[in-house]
Amino acid sequence: MAFRSTTGIIFLACLIVLASAAVPKNTKRKPANPPPRAVADPEKDAEITNSCPEDGFFADAEQCDKYYECRNGEIIEKLCPDGMVFNDYSPEEEKCDLPFNIDCSQRPKLQTPIPSLHCPRLNGYFSHEDPKECGKFYYCVDGKFNMITCPDGLVYNDKTGICTWPDEAKKKGCGAADVFDFDCPPVNETFGLTHPRYADPADCQFFYVCINGNTPRRSGCKLGQAFDDVSKKCEWARKVPECADWYKGQLTDAELDALENPPTVKPNSKRKSHRPKAKDVEIEE
Ligand SMILES: *[C@@H]1O[C@H](CO)[C@@H](O)[C@H](O)[C@H]1NC(C)=O
Repeated sequence: MAFRSTTGIIFLACLIVLASAAVPKNTKRKPANPPPRAVADPEKDAEITNSCPEDGFFADAEQCDKYYECRNGEIIEKLCPDGMVFNDYSPEEEKCDLPFNIDCSQRPKLQTPIPSLHCPRLNGYFSHEDPKECGKFYYCVDGKFNMITCPDGLVYNDKTGICTWPDEAKKKGCGAADVFDFDCPPVNETFGLTHPRYADPADCQFFYVCINGNTPRRSGCKLGQAFDDVSKKCEWARKVPECADWYKGQLTDAELDALENPPTVKPNSKRKSHRPKAKDVEIEE
């Protein structure tokens, strides 16, 4: 592994030399300093660059979505699909990925975008055009979009491409105060460190956790339950006086009873559910 990546770096160094050959040398010279690197022998460089160091796939030194395939000593320049970047973890793999887990800081250039409706580039996750739509975003594949909505109370974080708490997403106009119609009541520091919980005044099923006493995060109880502001826990709605009728019109008494007393599974039935876990996003066409 170490050997391979070293070779890759040497190869890249050669590409940089090639790329900068036509460009004037560093103009901000500091003559007092020793030369930063060994002076390259131009003939030797040409020799190395004309023949690939080994077969494989190598990242471009400047452009994150550009890479090179070396095959039988020949270099073929390639581009990832628009919106994706070259994953340079192994020269044996030709792999382009969405940019979230790939460090492009050393090769920040990208191809010219090919935009389409809701998709600034052909592929990727993109924020909603309306900055007030904090929890909506688009997933684009080949320029075709799907709008995705984060679970209630979460904000789309365009740095990570996932839904997170508003205080974590740190998105302008999408802070806890903008997303929630709730202010944490002032508390002393000691009490704040217990992350106190408060019932959502507008919805019996939900409550707010005030992180460090001051940053609200909305959380919910199971269907059929309500947050009891006295015990500070989720309880079956019938046991919470101010919420006893909360599910009327939504669930029948029989349905509520079935939620509270789920039918017992026969002990000899060993069937396992292979259904995937509920995704934490809803997909809307
Ligand atoms: C902080 O507030 C809590 C709850 O209101 C109270 O019980 C506690 O005595 C207070 N502590 C201090 C140090 O003021």
